[in-house]
Amino acid sequence: MDRVFSGIQPTGELHIGNWLGAVKNWVELQDRYECLYCAVDLHVLTVKYDPATLAERTREMLVSLMAAGLDPERSIIFAQSHVPEHTRLMWFFTNVTGIGELERMTQFKDKSQRMERVPAGLLMYPVLQAADILLYRANKVPVGEDQVQHLELSRDVARAWNAEFAPDEPYFPEPQPLLTPAKRIMGLDGEAKMSKSLGNTIGIFETPEQIWDKLKPAKTDPARKTKKDPGTPELCNLYTLHQHFSPAETVTAVADKCRSAGWGCLECKRVLADTVTAQLAPIRERGEALRADRSGVDRAIARGAERARALAVDTMRGVERRMGFLPVIQG
Ligand code: TYM
Repeated sequence: MDRVFSGIQPTGELHIGNWLGAVKNWVELQDRYECLYCAVDLHVLTVKYDPATLAERTREMLVSLMAAGLDPERSIIFAQSHVPEHTRLMWFFTNVTGIGELERMTQFKDKSQRMERVPAGLLMYPVLQAADILLYRANKVPVGEDQVQHLELSRDVARAWNAEFAPDEPYFPEPQPLLTPAKRIMGLDGEAKMSKSLGNTIGIFETPEQIWDKLKPAKTDPARKTKKDPGTPELCNLYTLHQHFSPAETVTAVADKCRSAGWGCLECKRVLADTVTAQLAPIRERGEALRADRSGVDRAIARGAERARALAVDTMRGVERRMGFLPVIQG
Protein backbone atom coordinates (compact mmCIF):
# COMPACT_ATOMS: atom_id res chain seq x y z
CA MET A 1 0.00 0.00 0.00
CA ASP A 2 1.16 3.53 -0.73
CA ARG A 3 2.46 5.31 2.32
CA VAL A 4 2.66 9.08 2.76
CA PHE A 5 5.20 10.89 4.92
CA SER A 6 5.81 14.58 5.34
CA GLY A 7 7.42 16.89 7.87
CA ILE A 8 7.40 20.49 8.97
CA GLN A 9 9.92 22.42 11.04
CA PRO A 10 8.59 23.72 14.34
CA THR A 11 10.33 27.06 13.86
CA GLY A 12 7.24 29.24 14.31
CA GLU A 13 3.54 29.13 13.74
CA LEU A 14 1.96 27.42 10.76
CA HIS A 15 1.31 30.06 8.08
CA ILE A 16 -0.91 30.13 5.02
CA GLY A 17 2.09 29.34 2.77
CA ASN A 18 2.73 26.00 4.53
CA TRP A 19 -0.97 25.43 4.77
CA LEU A 20 -1.80 25.98 1.11
CA GLY A 21 1.43 24.45 -0.19
CA ALA A 22 1.45 21.34 1.95
CA VAL A 23 -0.74 20.85 5.01
CA LYS A 24 -4.12 21.29 3.29
CA ASN A 25 -3.11 18.47 0.98
CA TRP A 26 -1.94 16.36 3.95
CA VAL A 27 -5.46 16.59 5.33
CA GLU A 28 -6.99 15.34 2.08
CA LEU A 29 -4.50 12.50 1.68
CA GLN A 30 -5.62 11.02 5.01
CA ASP A 31 -8.68 9.59 3.26
CA ARG A 32 -6.66 7.73 0.66
CA TYR A 33 -3.39 6.59 2.21
CA GLU A 34 -1.68 5.50 5.37
CA CYS A 35 -0.13 8.82 6.45
CA LEU A 36 2.61 9.93 8.83
CA TYR A 37 3.13 13.61 9.64
CA CYS A 38 5.98 14.83 11.75
CA ALA A 39 7.17 17.99 13.50
CA VAL A 40 10.86 17.76 12.60
CA ASP A 41 12.44 19.19 15.74
CA LEU A 42 15.84 17.58 15.04
CA HIS A 43 16.16 19.63 11.86
CA VAL A 44 15.84 22.81 13.94
CA LEU A 45 19.28 22.14 15.45
CA THR A 46 20.96 23.01 12.13
CA VAL A 47 20.38 26.73 12.77
CA LYS A 48 20.63 28.82 15.95
CA TYR A 49 17.59 28.11 18.09
CA ASP A 50 16.36 28.69 21.62
CA PRO A 51 16.30 25.49 23.74
CA ALA A 52 13.92 27.21 26.17
CA THR A 53 11.16 27.35 23.56
CA LEU A 54 11.81 24.26 21.40
CA ALA A 55 9.47 21.94 23.31
CA GLU A 56 6.58 24.39 23.28
CA ARG A 57 7.07 25.18 19.61
CA THR A 58 7.09 21.51 18.73
CA ARG A 59 3.92 20.98 20.71
CA GLU A 60 2.33 24.07 19.19
CA MET A 61 3.16 22.85 15.67
CA LEU A 62 1.52 19.49 16.39
CA VAL A 63 -1.53 21.34 17.77
CA SER A 64 -1.60 23.49 14.60
CA LEU A 65 -1.53 20.40 12.41
CA MET A 66 -4.39 18.84 14.34
CA ALA A 67 -6.33 22.12 14.21
CA ALA A 68 -5.79 22.23 10.45
CA GLY A 69 -7.57 18.88 10.20
CA LEU A 70 -4.99 16.13 10.72
CA ASP A 71 -6.69 13.43 12.71
CA PRO A 72 -4.48 11.55 15.19
CA GLU A 73 -6.80 8.55 14.95
CA ARG A 74 -6.42 8.17 11.20
CA SER A 75 -2.86 9.50 10.71
CA ILE A 76 0.29 9.08 12.72
CA ILE A 77 1.17 12.56 14.02
CA PHE A 78 4.35 12.81 16.05
CA ALA A 79 7.57 14.60 17.00
CA GLN A 80 10.69 13.44 15.17
CA SER A 81 12.84 13.38 18.33
CA HIS A 82 10.45 10.89 19.95
CA VAL A 83 11.61 8.24 17.47
CA PRO A 84 15.37 7.77 17.90
CA GLU A 85 15.63 5.61 14.77
CA HIS A 86 15.56 8.76 12.59
CA THR A 87 19.10 9.71 13.54
CA ARG A 88 20.30 6.11 13.55
CA LEU A 89 19.17 5.56 9.96
CA MET A 90 20.63 8.93 9.03
CA TRP A 91 24.07 7.78 10.16
CA PHE A 92 23.79 4.71 7.96
CA PHE A 93 22.75 6.90 5.03
CA THR A 94 25.62 9.38 5.47
CA ASN A 95 27.86 6.57 4.26
CA VAL A 96 26.12 6.12 0.92
CA THR A 97 25.78 9.87 0.23
CA GLY A 98 28.38 11.98 -1.56
CA ILE A 99 29.52 15.24 0.05
CA GLY A 100 29.49 16.84 -3.43
CA GLU A 101 25.77 16.09 -3.82
CA LEU A 102 25.05 17.70 -0.45
CA GLU A 103 27.10 20.79 -1.25
CA ARG A 104 25.03 21.31 -4.38
CA MET A 105 21.74 21.63 -2.44
CA THR A 106 20.30 25.12 -2.99
CA GLN A 107 19.07 25.49 0.60
CA PHE A 108 22.52 24.54 1.93
CA LYS A 109 24.18 27.07 -0.34
CA ASP A 110 21.75 29.83 0.70
CA LYS A 111 21.92 29.19 4.42
CA SER A 112 25.66 28.47 4.64
CA GLN A 113 26.52 31.68 2.80
CA ARG A 114 25.12 33.68 5.68
CA MET A 115 27.16 31.78 8.33
CA GLU A 116 30.67 32.30 9.56
CA ARG A 117 31.08 28.74 10.78
CA VAL A 118 28.95 26.20 8.91
CA PRO A 119 27.85 23.30 11.14
CA ALA A 120 28.26 19.84 9.61
CA GLY A 121 24.62 19.20 10.55
CA LEU A 122 23.50 21.79 8.00
CA LEU A 123 25.24 19.86 5.26
CA MET A 124 23.67 16.62 6.53
CA TYR A 125 20.19 18.14 6.75
CA PRO A 126 18.88 16.39 3.59
CA VAL A 127 20.31 13.04 4.72
CA LEU A 128 18.18 13.31 7.88
CA GLN A 129 15.24 14.21 5.65
CA ALA A 130 15.87 11.08 3.54
CA ALA A 131 15.97 9.04 6.76
CA ASP A 132 12.66 10.58 7.91
CA ILE A 133 10.90 9.38 4.79
CA LEU A 134 12.62 6.05 4.23
CA LEU A 135 12.39 4.98 7.88
CA TYR A 136 8.71 4.41 7.11
CA ARG A 137 9.39 3.23 3.56
CA ALA A 138 7.05 5.99 2.38
CA ASN A 139 6.77 6.47 -1.36
CA LYS A 140 4.69 9.67 -1.52
CA VAL A 141 5.80 12.96 0.00
CA PRO A 142 3.44 15.96 -0.17
CA VAL A 143 5.59 19.11 -0.08
CA GLY A 144 5.97 22.59 -1.54
CA GLU A 145 8.30 23.25 -4.45
CA ASP A 146 11.24 24.26 -2.25
CA GLN A 147 11.57 20.65 -1.06
CA VAL A 148 11.73 19.02 -4.49
CA GLN A 149 15.52 19.05 -4.63
CA HIS A 150 15.76 17.42 -1.19
CA LEU A 151 13.45 14.70 -2.43
CA GLU A 152 15.66 14.06 -5.42
CA LEU A 153 18.44 13.49 -2.94
CA SER A 154 16.22 11.11 -0.95
CA ARG A 155 15.74 9.08 -4.13
CA ASP A 156 19.51 9.06 -4.74
CA VAL A 157 20.07 7.84 -1.17
CA ALA A 158 17.45 5.08 -1.54
CA ARG A 159 18.98 4.00 -4.85
CA ALA A 160 22.55 4.00 -3.52
CA TRP A 161 21.63 2.09 -0.36
CA ASN A 162 19.57 -0.46 -2.32
CA ALA A 163 22.42 -0.96 -4.82
CA GLU A 164 24.87 -1.62 -1.98
CA PHE A 165 22.80 -3.63 0.47
CA ALA A 166 19.71 -4.94 -1.35
CA PRO A 167 20.83 -5.43 -4.94
CA ASP A 168 18.38 -8.23 -5.75
CA GLU A 169 15.22 -6.75 -4.31
CA PRO A 170 15.09 -3.03 -3.46
CA TYR A 171 14.29 -2.52 0.22
CA PHE A 172 13.54 1.20 0.07
CA PRO A 173 11.10 2.80 -2.39
CA GLU A 174 12.14 5.92 -4.31
CA PRO A 175 9.86 8.57 -2.80
CA GLN A 176 8.03 10.92 -5.16
CA PRO A 177 6.90 14.47 -4.34
CA LEU A 178 3.20 15.35 -4.41
CA LEU A 179 2.84 19.02 -5.34
CA THR A 180 -0.29 21.19 -5.29
CA PRO A 181 -1.15 24.21 -7.46
CA ALA A 182 -0.10 26.29 -4.43
CA LYS A 183 3.42 24.88 -4.50
CA ARG A 184 5.06 28.30 -4.03
CA ILE A 185 3.07 30.96 -2.17
CA MET A 186 4.72 34.37 -2.15
CA GLY A 187 4.95 36.46 1.01
CA LEU A 188 2.89 39.60 1.63
CA ASP A 189 5.92 41.66 0.57
CA GLY A 190 5.41 40.20 -2.93
CA GLU A 191 9.18 39.70 -3.16
CA ALA A 192 10.09 36.38 -1.59
CA LYS A 193 8.50 33.05 -0.78
CA MET A 194 6.22 33.24 2.24
CA SER A 195 8.47 32.13 5.05
CA LYS A 196 8.53 32.06 8.83
CA SER A 197 12.02 33.54 8.89
CA LEU A 198 11.12 36.51 6.64
CA GLY A 199 8.11 37.70 8.64
CA ASN A 200 5.97 38.05 5.50
CA THR A 201 3.32 35.57 6.59
CA ILE A 202 -0.26 35.27 7.82
CA GLY A 203 -0.49 32.69 10.59
CA ILE A 204 -3.41 30.26 10.56
CA PHE A 205 -4.46 31.32 14.07
CA GLU A 206 -4.45 35.06 13.45
CA THR A 207 -7.54 37.05 14.36
CA PRO A 208 -9.62 38.94 11.75
CA GLU A 209 -8.02 42.20 12.97
CA GLN A 210 -4.48 40.80 12.63
CA ILE A 211 -5.27 39.46 9.15
CA TRP A 212 -6.56 42.86 8.06
CA ASP A 213 -3.55 44.68 9.57
CA LYS A 214 -1.27 42.46 7.49
CA LEU A 215 -3.23 42.60 4.25
CA LYS A 216 -3.76 46.38 4.31
CA PRO A 217 -0.11 47.26 3.52
CA ALA A 218 0.55 44.13 1.37
CA LYS A 219 2.12 44.60 -2.08
CA THR A 220 -0.17 44.47 -5.15
CA ASP A 221 0.39 44.95 -8.90
CA PRO A 222 3.41 47.33 -8.84
CA ALA A 223 2.26 49.09 -12.05
CA ARG A 224 -1.00 50.16 -10.41
CA LYS A 225 -0.01 53.46 -8.83
CA THR A 226 -3.45 54.97 -8.13
CA LYS A 227 -6.99 53.73 -7.76
CA LYS A 228 -7.84 55.02 -11.26
CA ASP A 229 -5.13 52.96 -13.02
CA PRO A 230 -6.45 49.67 -14.36
CA GLY A 231 -4.54 46.72 -12.88
CA THR A 232 -3.33 43.34 -14.11
CA PRO A 233 -4.56 40.65 -11.70
CA GLU A 234 -2.02 38.12 -12.97
CA LEU A 235 0.77 40.40 -11.72
CA CYS A 236 -0.77 40.81 -8.29
CA ASN A 237 0.25 38.52 -5.48
CA LEU A 238 -3.04 39.10 -3.68
CA TYR A 239 -4.97 37.91 -6.72
CA THR A 240 -3.15 34.58 -6.30
CA LEU A 241 -4.37 34.49 -2.71
CA HIS A 242 -7.92 35.23 -3.93
CA GLN A 243 -7.61 32.21 -6.20
CA HIS A 244 -6.80 30.03 -3.20
CA PHE A 245 -9.19 31.55 -0.65
CA SER A 246 -12.16 33.09 -2.46
CA PRO A 247 -15.11 31.42 -4.20
CA ALA A 248 -14.88 31.24 -8.02
CA GLU A 249 -17.44 34.02 -8.61
CA THR A 250 -15.52 36.34 -6.27
CA VAL A 251 -12.28 35.58 -8.10
CA THR A 252 -13.92 36.53 -11.43
CA ALA A 253 -15.41 39.69 -9.93
CA VAL A 254 -12.05 40.68 -8.42
CA ALA A 255 -10.29 40.26 -11.78
CA ASP A 256 -12.96 42.34 -13.60
CA LYS A 257 -12.95 45.12 -11.02
CA CYS A 258 -9.15 45.25 -11.07
CA ARG A 259 -8.87 45.37 -14.88
CA SER A 260 -11.56 48.06 -15.15
CA ALA A 261 -10.28 50.03 -12.15
CA GLY A 262 -13.77 49.59 -10.70
CA TRP A 263 -12.19 48.79 -7.34
CA GLY A 264 -9.10 50.14 -5.69
CA CYS A 265 -6.63 47.68 -4.15
CA LEU A 266 -7.98 48.41 -0.69
CA GLU A 267 -11.48 47.24 -1.63
CA CYS A 268 -10.02 44.08 -3.13
CA LYS A 269 -8.04 43.51 0.07
CA ARG A 270 -11.19 43.91 2.17
CA VAL A 271 -12.85 41.07 0.29
CA LEU A 272 -9.72 38.94 0.60
CA ALA A 273 -9.49 39.61 4.36
CA ASP A 274 -13.08 38.36 4.69
CA THR A 275 -12.54 35.15 2.72
CA VAL A 276 -9.23 34.38 4.46
CA THR A 277 -10.87 34.99 7.84
CA ALA A 278 -13.81 32.75 6.94
CA GLN A 279 -11.57 29.86 5.84
CA LEU A 280 -9.32 30.11 8.87
CA ALA A 281 -12.14 30.51 11.43
CA PRO A 282 -12.81 26.78 11.96
CA ILE A 283 -9.06 26.13 12.29
CA ARG A 284 -8.76 28.84 14.93
CA GLU A 285 -11.71 27.41 16.81
CA ARG A 286 -10.27 23.89 16.77
CA GLY A 287 -6.92 25.33 17.90
CA GLU A 288 -8.59 26.90 20.94
CA ALA A 289 -10.36 23.66 21.82
CA LEU A 290 -7.12 21.69 21.53
CA ARG A 291 -5.20 24.16 23.70
CA ALA A 292 -7.88 23.80 26.36
CA ASP A 293 -7.31 20.04 26.39
CA ARG A 294 -3.61 19.82 27.18
CA SER A 295 -3.65 16.25 28.44
CA GLY A 296 -5.68 15.07 25.43
CA VAL A 297 -3.06 16.58 23.11
CA ASP A 298 -0.24 15.02 25.14
CA ARG A 299 -1.90 11.62 24.85
CA ALA A 300 -2.30 12.02 21.08
CA ILE A 301 1.38 12.97 20.72
CA ALA A 302 2.53 10.03 22.85
CA ARG A 303 0.35 7.63 20.87
CA GLY A 304 1.70 9.03 17.59
CA ALA A 305 5.27 8.37 18.77
CA GLU A 306 4.39 4.83 19.80
CA ARG A 307 2.80 4.00 16.44
CA ALA A 308 5.64 5.60 14.45
CA ARG A 309 8.22 3.81 16.56
CA ALA A 310 6.68 0.39 15.88
CA LEU A 311 7.04 0.96 12.12
CA ALA A 312 10.53 2.42 12.52
CA VAL A 313 11.82 -0.51 14.58
CA ASP A 314 10.50 -2.92 11.98
CA THR A 315 12.27 -1.09 9.12
CA MET A 316 15.52 -0.93 11.10
CA ARG A 317 15.48 -4.67 11.69
CA GLY A 318 15.55 -5.19 7.92
CA VAL A 319 18.21 -2.50 7.46
CA GLU A 320 20.55 -3.87 10.12
CA ARG A 321 20.23 -7.41 8.85
CA ARG A 322 21.10 -6.33 5.32
CA MET A 323 24.00 -4.21 6.54
CA GLY A 324 25.48 -7.15 8.41
CA PHE A 325 25.32 -6.07 12.07
CA LEU A 326 25.59 -8.59 14.87
CA PRO A 327 22.05 -9.22 16.14
CA VAL A 328 21.31 -9.38 19.86
CA ILE A 329 20.78 -13.03 20.72
CA GLN A 330 18.95 -13.66 24.00
CA GLY A 331 20.68 -16.46 26.00
P1 TYM B 1 9.26 23.61 6.11
O1 TYM B 1 9.06 23.47 7.57
O2 TYM B 1 10.07 24.76 5.63
O3 TYM B 1 7.86 23.71 5.37
C1 TYM B 1 6.82 22.74 5.55
C2 TYM B 1 6.11 22.50 4.23
O4 TYM B 1 5.53 23.70 3.74
C3 TYM B 1 5.95 23.97 2.41
N1 TYM B 1 6.07 25.43 2.26
C4 TYM B 1 5.49 26.13 1.28
N2 TYM B 1 4.71 25.76 0.24
C5 TYM B 1 4.27 26.73 -0.58
N3 TYM B 1 4.59 28.04 -0.44
C6 TYM B 1 5.38 28.45 0.59
N4 TYM B 1 5.66 29.75 0.73
C7 TYM B 1 5.86 27.48 1.50
N5 TYM B 1 6.65 27.54 2.61
C8 TYM B 1 6.76 26.27 3.05
C9 TYM B 1 7.31 23.27 2.30
O5 TYM B 1 7.64 22.99 0.97
C10 TYM B 1 7.07 22.02 3.13
O6 TYM B 1 6.43 21.03 2.36
N6 TYM B 1 12.86 20.25 5.07
C11 TYM B 1 11.43 20.41 5.33
C12 TYM B 1 10.94 19.58 6.49
C13 TYM B 1 11.19 18.12 6.39
C14 TYM B 1 10.52 17.20 5.53
C15 TYM B 1 11.06 15.93 5.85
C16 TYM B 1 9.57 17.35 4.54
C17 TYM B 1 12.06 17.39 7.15
N7 TYM B 1 11.98 16.06 6.83
C18 TYM B 1 10.64 14.77 5.15
C19 TYM B 1 9.14 16.19 3.86
C20 TYM B 1 9.68 14.93 4.17
C21 TYM B 1 11.15 21.88 5.65
O7 TYM B 1 12.02 22.59 6.09
O8 TYM B 1 9.84 22.25 5.49
